Amino acid sequence: MVINESLRLYPPATVLPRMAFENIKIRRSFIPKGLSIWIPVLAIHHSEELWGKDVNEFNPDRFNSRPFASGRHFIPFAAGPRNCIGQSFAMMEAKIILSMFISRFRFTISESYRHAPVVVMTLKPKYGVQVHLNPLEP
Ligand code: HEM
Repeated sequence: MVINESLRLYPPATVLPRMAFENIKIRRSFIPKGLSIWIPVLAIHHSEELWGKDVNEFNPDRFNSRPFASGRHFIPFAAGPRNCIGQSFAMMEAKIILSMFISRFRFTISESYRHAPVVVMTLKPKYGVQVHLNPLEP
């Protein structure tokens, strides 16, 4: 839930480019062949309409208690036949790293940390993320 919530607020891929290879009709919309479409992942993940009033809060619990459409409202790895091939690997890796961290250290954010997400191809912290690590008692 913590990893999902981090990927919701800070999806590395903030937009997904697509191109229509043929004329498409979706309900009353017409998408002509050749049109470029940018799926705004960051905007979808930060939509108050979809996620509620606490949309900008870090609240991992939302993945436990509230229903959401995973392939439409939560798409850090995209969706459909060309979604991220490394999704399961990346999630497993993140879970292993996080569980190793929390079982060995107490960590707090450094006073020098400046919250400055920036899009440079992918979304990243502009000045890095400085944390204090304190080893837990054995
Ligand atoms: C948190 C980590 C990751 C995120 C958020 C992520 C996100 C994404 C997204 C959004 C796409 C789709 C791009 C699009 O549809 O335009 C994608 C595609 C892809 N990703 Fe990842 N990815 C991650 C980790 C990985 C890892 C670890 C691997 C490989 C081991 C990987 C390999 C790929 C490949 C090969 C594609 C292209 C798939 C295709 O076009 O059929 N990704 N990724």
